[in-house]
Amino acid sequence: MKSIRQIKKLKNKIVFLRVDFNVPIEKGSIKEDYKIIQALPTIRFLLRYGCRLIIATHLAEASTSKIKISTKPIAQRLSQLLDKKVNFINNCCGELVIKAVDKLKTGEILFLENLRSNKGEKENEKKLAKQLANLANLYVNDAFAVCHRNHASVSAIKKYLPAYVGLLLEKEIINLNKINKPKKPLISIIGGVKMKTKTILIKKLLKKSHRMLIGGALANNFIASHGFEVGHSIIDQDSIKIVTKLKNNAKIILPIDAIVSNRKDKSNAVAKSINKIEKNDMILDIGPKTIKLYASFIKQANTIIWNGPMGYFENEHFKHGTLAVARLIASRSTGKAFGVVGGGETVEALKITKMSEHIDWVSTGGGAMLAYLSGEKMPGLKGVCRRIPRICGV
Ligand code: 3PG
Repeated sequence: MKSIRQIKKLKNKIVFLRVDFNVPIEKGSIKEDYKIIQALPTIRFLLRYGCRLIIATHLAEASTSKIKISTKPIAQRLSQLLDKKVNFINNCCGELVIKAVDKLKTGEILFLENLRSNKGEKENEKKLAKQLANLANLYVNDAFAVCHRNHASVSAIKKYLPAYVGLLLEKEIINLNKINKPKKPLISIIGGVKMKTKTILIKKLLKKSHRMLIGGALANNFIASHGFEVGHSIIDQDSIKIVTKLKNNAKIILPIDAIVSNRKDKSNAVAKSINKIEKNDMILDIGPKTIKLYASFIKQANTIIWNGPMGYFENEHFKHGTLAVARLIASRSTGKAFGVVGGGETVEALKITKMSEHIDWVSTGGGAMLAYLSGEKMPGLKGVCRRIPRICGV
């Protein structure tokens, strides 16, 4: 890897640091800051060696949402964590940014506005990549969680600047490579709602998994593909088509019961067998029998990969499946099995159990972690990381 530790002279260099601080923000306050905390060593390293630092991140859905999501609260949180001034500019490129960079002194930070507020970011546009590159002397990628995206500040920018990887990205690769040749049996647990990305990736991950336990909204597609009623549960027609081809794969284990609510405000919670779900029900968690079934697999595992909650864990009634799975994985990891867990909500749920330190590696990537472990192309790593055999597709 082209690590920042190999850069000969950092003093006074202007560094464009791409981070993934795509964190949940509610009413201007940050709900979960794991990704920010994990990137602090890179930021401190670069400042210690006297560079001038431009930091940029995306926040999801800025381009489609009517209300623009600003990175300003993130810049403020970073300032608190570093106990240092972080200058914020409400643009990610253009004249004002150029002027602000000109004013930057050694050891100072300029935090840019949400990269996705410019539509060129998601289109991997050369124009934007050049504009961003022209601001700096060096490019550092510490944004593992977005390395699976072919976006301007992740991919195209590397054509225009010498590119290096940050300390967090380095750690991600080193730890995820530890399951390059997984100790068998490998049990993967996949849930959450980002269905399109995941349904494609699980096909690849299945090849190396002994069993794959499915939860969250992802499970609803499988349940529907078997012809069971799913009522008002979240489903995705495209994903149903994909999972229909996988539904009879014996490695896939689906919930046998669920916690459902038949009220719009989700104020009641009832455990039901999967074949007893009714039209007015909404599946919001895996049920107690499923927890027991999944526990029997997790307890046998020698390698564990987990991404995506088992249900709507933010709600008191529907948190139990996710938290039970988190505790089971943490109990089995760091010792009996090598356990990796990743993804924003997954890490949030794990934190509630206060057992994060019992997991071998808590990745900052969700989709990116699955993509890397599945052997998918990772545009963010191209040219900065030597191609490494992945656990699938080797
Ligand atoms: C994530 O949270 O998984 C990353 O920040 C990538 O976000 P995206 O799925 O919106 O590209």
